[in-house]
Amino acid sequence: MRTPRPGYSTEGRRRSGGKAGVTETDQALEAVNITKHFGSVAALDGVNLVVHPGEVVGLIGDNGAGKSTLLSILAGTLAPTSGEVRVGTEVHAHATPLNSRRLGIETVYQDLSLALHLDVADNVFLGREQCVSGWRRHLGWLDRKAMQRRSSEAIATLHMALPSVTVPCAQLSGGQRQAVAVARAVIWSKGITLLDEPTAALGVGEQERVFHIIDGLRQKGGAVIIVSHNLDQIRRVADRIVVLRHGRVAAEVSPETSTVQELALLIVGPGESNDGPENALGPGGPDSR
Ligand SMILES: Nc1ncnc2c1ncn2[C@@H]1O[C@H](COP(=O)(O)OP(=O)(O)OP(=O)(O)O)[C@@H](O)[C@H]1O
Ligand SMILES: [Mg+2]
Repeated sequence: MRTPRPGYSTEGRRRSGGKAGVTETDQALEAVNITKHFGSVAALDGVNLVVHPGEVVGLIGDNGAGKSTLLSILAGTLAPTSGEVRVGTEVHAHATPLNSRRLGIETVYQDLSLALHLDVADNVFLGREQCVSGWRRHLGWLDRKAMQRRSSEAIATLHMALPSVTVPCAQLSGGQRQAVAVARAVIWSKGITLLDEPTAALGVGEQERVFHIIDGLRQKGGAVIIVSHNLDQIRRVADRIVVLRHGRVAAEVSPETSTVQELALLIVGPGESNDGPENALGPGGPDSR
């Protein structure tokens, strides 16, 4: 008998989504039969995955399973070898980071993708710089004070202590850089948020803040995909868990009916274990290929 799982919210958590109509991209994000080859390496092989508004999907798998590759394709920074990305009923044919952004997709990449020579506020507003009002706007004057204030507020929601939002990111610790990357995604998130190991460098308290923030995104009707190796946390935050193994969807399970041990077995695969991990599958089951 499983013990009850502590969730990050008590209401509106599961698939109903607690949708409050706040999002601009109120549509599902879908990967359809995605294949990605890097030379002879097949990083992804016929992957199908969907995340709906008001849903958090946990994407798990071993190192090299293809998680970051899939997120980068969904984010538009990497083109698939074949297959397509859909947002709602639209094919996201010309997937570029800019187009993804227009569609309301925000991403925290595993490598964080920060411009280290720029300060925190500049990174949070990278590509979306805010200009002053009035005639100086036409001269391209940036409203640095406003950008710094909004960045400080975003960082404060993570309860992360930073020296200042005016220090170059190169001077920050790994955890502080991660907080900047998460804050940037959250501040601009309009519907779909992709998080690749967003808490790997964070302390326990900051990790909890990130999971509360994810819960907040769900409550507002946001769709979230989170990659993590922390299976306990994934079970607590996700509505559905998708297991990638060797570039394929090996299983799709409910966190409510899967233990950490069962998830670990699904990640490793039947060849690596005597315990028959596929027995642990919930609805969705293993990819039949
Ligand atoms: N730019 C690239 N060039 C060549 N091979 C790549 C590239 N990016 C990823 N790969 C390969 O694709 C496969 C999947 O990599 P990916 O980074 O998606 O794994 P992952 O599941 O995110 O792993 P991790 O948990 O270690 O982050 C690996 O075999 C990797 O070596
Ligand atoms: Mg990765």
